[in-house]
Amino acid sequence: MMNFGKDAEPQQNLKKIWAIGGGKGGVGKSLVSANVAICLSLMGHKVVAVDLDLGGANLHTCLGLPIPQVTLSDYVSKKITNFEDLLVSTPIHNLKIISGAQDELGMANLKHMHKNQIIRKLHELDADYILFDLGAGTAFNTIDFFITADKGILVVLPEPTSIENTYRFIKSVFYRRLKMIEGVAEIEPLITESMNAKLSSGAQTSPADLMKKISELNPEVGLKIRQEMALMRPNLIINQVRSQADIDIGYSIQSICRKYFGIEMSFPGYLDYDQSVWQSVRKRKPLLIEYPNSKLVNNFDRIVTKLIES
Ligand SMILES: Nc1ncnc2c1ncn2[C@@H]1O[C@H](COP(=O)(O)OP(=O)(O)O)[C@@H](O)[C@H]1O
Ligand SMILES: [Mg+2]
Repeated sequence: MMNFGKDAEPQQNLKKIWAIGGGKGGVGKSLVSANVAICLSLMGHKVVAVDLDLGGANLHTCLGLPIPQVTLSDYVSKKITNFEDLLVSTPIHNLKIISGAQDELGMANLKHMHKNQIIRKLHELDADYILFDLGAGTAFNTIDFFITADKGILVVLPEPTSIENTYRFIKSVFYRRLKMIEGVAEIEPLITESMNAKLSSGAQTSPADLMKKISELNPEVGLKIRQEMALMRPNLIINQVRSQADIDIGYSIQSICRKYFGIEMSFPGYLDYDQSVWQSVRKRKPLLIEYPNSKLVNNFDRIVTKLIES
């Protein structure tokens, strides 16, 4: 966990924070958040799932809940002053949620101060697992929620648009983290140059090249950066898989990230395309509870087991 703000709390007990992102809308972030949350709570863990898609909150739907009465915007607008009062119970034992804003203008552009306060409060919640269901895009808010988590999970569809968005997301995370590292101020122009280079340009401007260059110029900072980046090990989930070729996209994203970013990614598994997903959404019932025979039950089981182990 990265400390956010000087008075961020140290990590308590064995609480784990997992953030689910992906850079694109409609790829299955809420589906993954909801069902990973259900898996963990069925295993007996105390779980809080937080809807941080501040523009298009829909985690509650994937969990079969009506629109919650209290949301994060009530906290930002100070209608609710006690953060724990945002917790909403679900029919699933051990699982609570905090809902994102429904409509509130400006919520998607949370002020810096609010964001840091919310991050701190989220990290203080009493739970074994806290899941962040992130919004689409690479806005600083989304990236920062992702960075503060212990584990980052990226949901990707086997389509070029989703894959491109995933790289864009990883790139944003990479540079945001880089700039937070102490001592990088003096190499800022180098970072900016590399950051503005096109993903496809063949020149020596990839993040991996940048790290090499930094190490040559300033070995001490270079080492610090390498150590910091080694901690960053995002997890990839390919969703809506219909063939082996779709699954293999996961391995190619892994190898591209290694070459281009110098980042190792884990690939805990994939989710089959399955009718039961949209059927459960339409029925407003949680998938894993409503369709215990769905192919996705095994998919989720494997993914969650791998995530816990890693
Ligand atoms: N594995 C899947 N099989 C079939 N449909 C899926 C699957 N994953 C997602 N979907 C469809 O995509 C929709 C969007 O998923 P959602 O989790 O809301 O995306 P996000 O939170 O990323 O915007 C779901 O309502 C569902 O209809
Ligand atoms: Mg969503």
